[in-house]
Amino acid sequence: MRLEGLGAIVTGGGSGLGAATVAALAAAGMRVAVVDREEARAREVAERTGAVAFVLDVADAAATEGVFPAIAEAVGGPRLLVNCAGIAPAARIVGRDGPMPLSAFEQVVRVNLLGTFNMLRLAAHAMGGLEPLEDDERGLIVNTASVAAFEGQIGQAAYAASKGGVASLTLPAARELAGRGIRVVAIAPSLFATPMLLSMPETVQRSLAATVPFPARFGRPEEYASLVLEIACNPMLNGCVLRLDGALRMPAR
Ligand SMILES: NC(=O)c1ccc[n+]([C@@H]2O[C@H](COP(=O)([O-])OP(=O)(O)OC[C@H]3O[C@@H](n4cnc5c(N)ncnc54)[C@H](O)[C@@H]3O)[C@@H](O)[C@H]2O)c1
Repeated sequence: MRLEGLGAIVTGGGSGLGAATVAALAAAGMRVAVVDREEARAREVAERTGAVAFVLDVADAAATEGVFPAIAEAVGGPRLLVNCAGIAPAARIVGRDGPMPLSAFEQVVRVNLLGTFNMLRLAAHAMGGLEPLEDDERGLIVNTASVAAFEGQIGQAAYAASKGGVASLTLPAARELAGRGIRVVAIAPSLFATPMLLSMPETVQRSLAATVPFPARFGRPEEYASLVLEIACNPMLNGCVLRLDGALRMPAR
């Protein structure tokens, strides 16, 4: 897909991997909608990159359905959806105070899995009504899983389950949407230098970074954004989960 002048939506675009993706897509000439539940972050990124901000909870079906036509109009018909909105609270299944509250598990699955699917279904519907481009392609959806989908650590039961769901829906979604000319790809990052990780104590950060075989550092958000650009430009990438991990395989703890 040639990106210049086309519309894109980036959820979680107010921070980290999403914000870097907004900047990269805007620099490639796309018209970008930043969707984030944090208003100040969404507006800051939008102002800095020339994008348009929408303050939304991606897992709120009624709210997203209501605003989607305005988002689609703002970017001139979405050709690319990048789902980056996510949360990663850690909690043991059985902790010091007893079993994990079911609501804690539900909240992670709600944002990471339901929110991803919610935006995917709305974007796929909108993309299906657009004119086909080169190769009869109408659009592309990039979801963000995690290496935790495959090597979840202790304390990541909810997060790993939610990301496992994101990874697993890639192939059936790509198969179903192929008839509409829409590709679906997931990226499974390992450790990336975003507010999610940089809020940890520095000693923890250093020891985590040292576990990455090469390069022995956290990934840079721009490296995630660069993969989104490559996926967009390479139509043979479809129905797969791409690890972006510096050869890291997460240990149990
Ligand atoms: N940083 C990493 O090391 C890493 C590794 C693997 C996977 N991931 C995944 O990448 C994605 C981006 O993570 P990040 O590191 O950039 O995190 P981040 O915390 O910097 O950014 C996440 C953004 O999502 C937004 N968000 C959260 N819940 C939302 C909701 N319900 N509706 C709308 N927006 C919402 C937040 O406001 C925030 O701006 C997440 O799905 C995360 O699980 C990150």
